[in-house]
Amino acid sequence: MEQRTFPRLGRTVGVVGLGAWQLGADWGTVTEDDATAILAAAVDTGVTFLDTADVYGDGRSEQLIGRFLRSRPDAGLTVATKMGRRVEQRAEAYTLAHFREWTDRSRANLGMDTLDLVQLHCPPTAVFADDAVFDALDTLVDEGAIAAYGVSVETCDQALTAIARPGVASVQIILNALRHKPLERVLPAAAAAGVGIIARVPLASGLLSGRYDEHTTFGADDHRSYNRHGEAFDVGETFSGVDYELGLSAVRRLAPLVGPESSMAQFALRWVIDQPGVTVVIPGARTTEQARRNVEAAALPPLSAEQLGGVRDVYDELIRPQVHDRW
Ligand SMILES: NC(=O)c1ccc[n+]([C@@H]2O[C@H](COP(=O)([O-])OP(=O)(O)OC[C@H]3O[C@@H](n4cnc5c(N)ncnc54)[C@H](OP(=O)(O)O)[C@@H]3O)[C@@H](O)[C@H]2O)c1
Repeated sequence: MEQRTFPRLGRTVGVVGLGAWQLGADWGTVTEDDATAILAAAVDTGVTFLDTADVYGDGRSEQLIGRFLRSRPDAGLTVATKMGRRVEQRAEAYTLAHFREWTDRSRANLGMDTLDLVQLHCPPTAVFADDAVFDALDTLVDEGAIAAYGVSVETCDQALTAIARPGVASVQIILNALRHKPLERVLPAAAAAGVGIIARVPLASGLLSGRYDEHTTFGADDHRSYNRHGEAFDVGETFSGVDYELGLSAVRRLAPLVGPESSMAQFALRWVIDQPGVTVVIPGARTTEQARRNVEAAALPPLSAEQLGGVRDVYDELIRPQVHDRW
C-alpha cells in the first residue's frame, strides 16, 4: 500500500487506515468476534493506522484494539485515540488533571505505556484558542504518557487555528465527495506546516457506497437513525450533514462517473486519497469484506480529470448550497 508520512509525528502509515467507531457502538451490533476479524482483515491487507476514541462504546473499541495489539506485537501499527467527550462539553473541562485521567484510562484500555497519538475530540471552539490547553498537552508528551497530540475538528476555522500551533501533529476533519470545503484552505495550510490530515467520514456514513435508497432503514441503536437531525451530536457527523434524500440524489448523479474497475465506495475513497495534503483516510467498516475492499482503493489509479470535474459539478450544483458555509 502507498505510504504517507506525518511530518510532526515522524511516522509513516498506509494511506488507507481503519476507523474503529463501528467496533465500539452507534452503528448497530458488531460482535467482539466480528470486530477482531475486521481488525485482522484490515491489518493483514496492509492497514497500519487505526483511529479510535475513549467514548466509542465507552472504551470497548479501545479495549478490542488493545487485545488485538497484544496478539500482534510486531504489527507496526499506529493507534490514534481521542479524549474529551466523556464529560459535558465546556472549555473549562480541558485541564491537565482531566487529560492525565483520560489518557491513563486509554493507556489501560489499549495496553500502551505511551499513546502514539491523542486527539482532542471535537472540543468547543474556545479550546483551540487556549494556550493552557496546549501547554497541558505538551506536559503529557514530556511525561511520556503520549508521544504526540492532534485535534479532531468540526469546522475549517477550528482546523486553521490548530494548524498554527507548533505542537499539533495532526488534524482530523470530514472530507469526502460531499464535503469539499477543507480543500480550499485547510489542506494547503496543513501541508505547508507539516501537519498530517486524517480524513474521516470518507463514505458520508455509507451513503457514498451507493447501497442505500429511500427504503433503507437503520437500527434504533445506529446514529443514522437517532442523529439524523443532530439530536445526539453534531449533525455533520451523520451522512456528512447532507439531508438523506438530497444525498441519494447526489449519489445517483455520481454513479455514472465510477469506472468498471471499482465499486462506488472505492471511487469515493480514491477521491479522498487523490486530494493533495491528505495523509490517511479512515473508512469505518462493519464487515471484513468492507475492510478488505476499502484497502483495495489504495491500489487503484488516481481519478481522471473528468471524474474529478464530475464530482466537483455534483457538489457545486446539489450539495454546496446546503453544507459549504456550515462547517
Ligand atoms: N468526531 C470525530 O472525531 C469522528 C466522527 C466520526 C467518525 N470518526 C472516525 O472516522 C471513521 C470513519 O467515519 P465513519 O465510520 O463515521 O463513516 P464512513 O467511513 O464514511 O462510513 C462507514 C460506513 O460505510 C459503509 N462501508 C464501509 N466500507 C464499505 C464498503 N467497502 N462498501 C460498502 N459500504 C461500506 C458501512 O456502512 P454499513 O454500516 O451500512 O454497512 C460503514 O459503517 C470512524 O470509524 C471514526 O474512527 C471520527
